[in-house]
Amino acid sequence: MTTPLNSQPKKLRATLPVKHDVIVLLKQDHVEVKKLFAQFEKLAEKDDIQGKVKVANKICAELIVHTSAEEEIFYPKARAATHEDGLLNEAEVEHDSAKDLIAQIQQMNSQDPMYDAKVKVLGEYINHHVEEEETEMFPKVRRSKELDLCALAAKFTALKKKLMDQLIDSTGEVNPQRLRAMIGNSASH
Ligand SMILES: [Fe+2]
Ligand SMILES: [Fe+2]
Repeated sequence: MTTPLNSQPKKLRATLPVKHDVIVLLKQDHVEVKKLFAQFEKLAEKDDIQGKVKVANKICAELIVHTSAEEEIFYPKARAATHEDGLLNEAEVEHDSAKDLIAQIQQMNSQDPMYDAKVKVLGEYINHHVEEEETEMFPKVRRSKELDLCALAAKFTALKKKLMDQLIDSTGEVNPQRLRAMIGNSASH
């Protein structure tokens, strides 16, 4: 075999995707959860109870994992880099309100007439929170140039995977009991 082995790594490097930083990943999560809220609305309109509960559980799982990983990996570094304590405190209070609502949704019967309203209001909360993160917090973090955002991306991804693995059971779906247990732990956080 005469293929010049030393030319291969260069080729491979050229085809590798751009390395994402943590802010790119956070924004991707925001887009994904917005799509899930839109799916929920469609299923609720069709009165597809099984379908909407499955999506609601997925929304709650994604949000618990995302907010927990933000609080553990991103927020402390963002606070240290920007010194924007007010902004970070507000974001943490918004996380707590979202978690309260998620806990209420998880304790509700899906036939409860308030179920859809709770999920819808959670979507509105999250929209507001995401808007503040994306227009205020993230630009300040990026401008500070103090953080290794790619290293944070790796930590964020690893923690998210670890948490999500705890929530998915052998059926490949979010396990509501495990989700409720994680919400309990995260609320006392
Ligand atoms: Fe976020
Ligand atoms: Fe957040």
